[in-house]
Amino acid sequence: MLHLTIHHIGYLVKKINKAVNEFERLGYSAVSDIIYDDFRKIHICFMEKDGYRIELVSPADSASVVAGLLKKYKNSPYHICYETPAFDADLKSLAEEGFTAIDTPTPAPALSGRRVVFLMNRFLGMIELLETATVSKNQ
Ligand code: NI
Repeated sequence: MLHLTIHHIGYLVKKINKAVNEFERLGYSAVSDIIYDDFRKIHICFMEKDGYRIELVSPADSASVVAGLLKKYKNSPYHICYETPAFDADLKSLAEEGFTAIDTPTPAPALSGRRVVFLMNRFLGMIELLETATVSKNQ
């Protein structure tokens, strides 16, 4: 049995500052600073509206892992992130059930260093798996 709850919808944007402004006009509030993830070469900002959380993701340069995705998809949502308190067990279960990890579990600077991994499924595309915060990590 999996232990997934939805944490956010990842949203590719070309210019993160402009995107934050436009989402604010629609009634979203930024709930983080614009954070730089040096490992993935991306800028990230979390925003919320009506109980929904989105993650704006923008490539910092052409070497970024999402630069190719942005070129293909333009400004658009591109993954749903699921949080789990049983990260390793759920990752193993998903890998046995048609989901293929496309990177290795890596700490996410924008989420207090909690581990994240991306997986692909042939029928629903890309998902992100996020480790639930422990008390000591405090997020
Ligand atoms: Ni995400």
